[in-house]
Amino acid sequence: MTSTNDERISQLEAMRAEALLGGGPARIEQQHARGKLTARERIDLLLDPGSFVELDAFVTSRSSAVGSDGERFLGDGVVTGHGTIEGRLVFVFSQDFTVFGGSLSEAYAQKICKVMDIAMKVGAPIVGLNDSGGARIQEGVVSLGGYADIFLRNTMASGVVPQLSVVMGPCAGGAVYSPAITDFTIMVEGTSYMFVTGPNVVKAVTHEDVSAERLGGARTHTTTSGVAHLAAGDEAEALDTVRRLLAFLPQNNLEAPPVVAAADSADRMDAALDSLVPDDPRRPYDMHDVLRRVLDDGAFLEIQPGWAGNIICGFGRLGGRAVGIVAQQPAVLAGALDIDASTKAARFVRTCDCFNVPLVTFVDVPGFLPGVGQEHGGIIRHGAKLLFAYCEATVPKVTVITRKAYGGAYDVMSSKHVRGDMNFAWPTAEIAVMGAEGAVNILYRDRLAAADDPAAERARLVEEYEREFANPWVAAGRGYVDDVILPRETRPRLIAALGMLATKRDTNPPKKHGNIPL
Ligand code: HXC
Repeated sequence: MTSTNDERISQLEAMRAEALLGGGPARIEQQHARGKLTARERIDLLLDPGSFVELDAFVTSRSSAVGSDGERFLGDGVVTGHGTIEGRLVFVFSQDFTVFGGSLSEAYAQKICKVMDIAMKVGAPIVGLNDSGGARIQEGVVSLGGYADIFLRNTMASGVVPQLSVVMGPCAGGAVYSPAITDFTIMVEGTSYMFVTGPNVVKAVTHEDVSAERLGGARTHTTTSGVAHLAAGDEAEALDTVRRLLAFLPQNNLEAPPVVAAADSADRMDAALDSLVPDDPRRPYDMHDVLRRVLDDGAFLEIQPGWAGNIICGFGRLGGRAVGIVAQQPAVLAGALDIDASTKAARFVRTCDCFNVPLVTFVDVPGFLPGVGQEHGGIIRHGAKLLFAYCEATVPKVTVITRKAYGGAYDVMSSKHVRGDMNFAWPTAEIAVMGAEGAVNILYRDRLAAADDPAAERARLVEEYEREFANPWVAAGRGYVDDVILPRETRPRLIAALGMLATKRDTNPPKKHGNIPL
């Protein structure tokens, strides 16, 4: 006998209810006891209320070797679909640790690939919520293939739609390479970790004793390795960070980022900027002060704040337009460019460029950091990444030199010569091949050695060099800076420049792809 309509509807309702439970009430309770939310609770926090549309809720494992008691679970360990964030479409996959520890099966990988494929076709961001024991052991090589299918899509989607990863539990082995390819990785403190090989393997191979937290927790990856961009105190904060980040990004590479109505006046000047740079060129100041005084409402979303603090990267707004900020931090390593700072800023510049976010660069750089460690670590190769990234970037590029712009670092930091569109200098700018002390040592070694009073002679020569070279006027005289501006005028001048550049179009020669030094 065939079923009645009522029976069929009841069956659907029963299956929907079953799917909502993932691995079942006991495992949901375990998940909560670990201080973690379930895959669905996370989606609810991430998306606009009621906007989630689920796909593939009835997909089950195709493996004959499922759980020890032959269990199969509707959805097979990952919740996928689409919804909105601030009314804008996003696709999401959320790994469900309550089903086989969120481990990845063939069917599970196909669910993720399906939402990635649609996201690419319609041009919308992809957010991945990661909480998984890795490849589903029972499925063997099929599961490895599933990972590779995702990695390929991550790579194809790179620079086309924004991809954001949140790590909210284990993420180990090759599985780490999906977040690693995406644009931003956010980790939850205390409950998430990422590593290629875990503490046990490390112990067996290198005899090092290390906890999962120290090896690959949120703190490690946001301060030591630079693998993750942001750490969040809890899951709600991590998901809110995704929402905040997406507000600065377009839906895809063919669109501009959203513009918001700015409450902060475009004419606002800030007299405190005029005295922010200390008279003594050796004294540091906090570049965050400059950013706070210049950006709309002083609001700044810093990326990788705990790693390579000598360079500051992040998003803000000027006159309501999203901008990517790259700024030296004179308070850390005097703002010198080292390996980590170069890598950090290069990735950020490329992220902004592929998603049409204009770049605003604040320069106070004494040069590249000297040292055997830096040279042997490949500062040439890594510094070249930042140079390459700035050269290649075609978004509007506006630069403000607040103080030092010395040597190769002057060229690198969005100079006119690497297609900076509007380059400003404060009167305190020192644009030269090197600082006065170094230059005098090299140029006048013999004269200093022969001087009756070498200290007095040195002071005189330094003063002469500073007058002649350590200023913005030589560069301004050549048009290498477009204007020397009062520090207080920085905000209105930047907003005017960005407005003028809003329709900028520039291209690079046709090629398969460039060969950025890696
Ligand atoms: C199948 C898995 C699983 C896996 C966990 N489970 N990992 N099932 N495949 N990879 C199951 C457990 O059997 C358990 O089932 C449930 O998930 C919860 O796991 P627990 O161990 O109870 O949780 P916890 O103590 O929190 O430990 C979590 C864990 C641990 C650290 C992730 O489960 C673990 O080490 N799992 C194995 C990790 C691993 O080696 N994965 C393969 C890595 S290689 P029950 O039924 O008891 O609830 C890899 C290659 C990727 O991933 C390649 C990409 C190229």
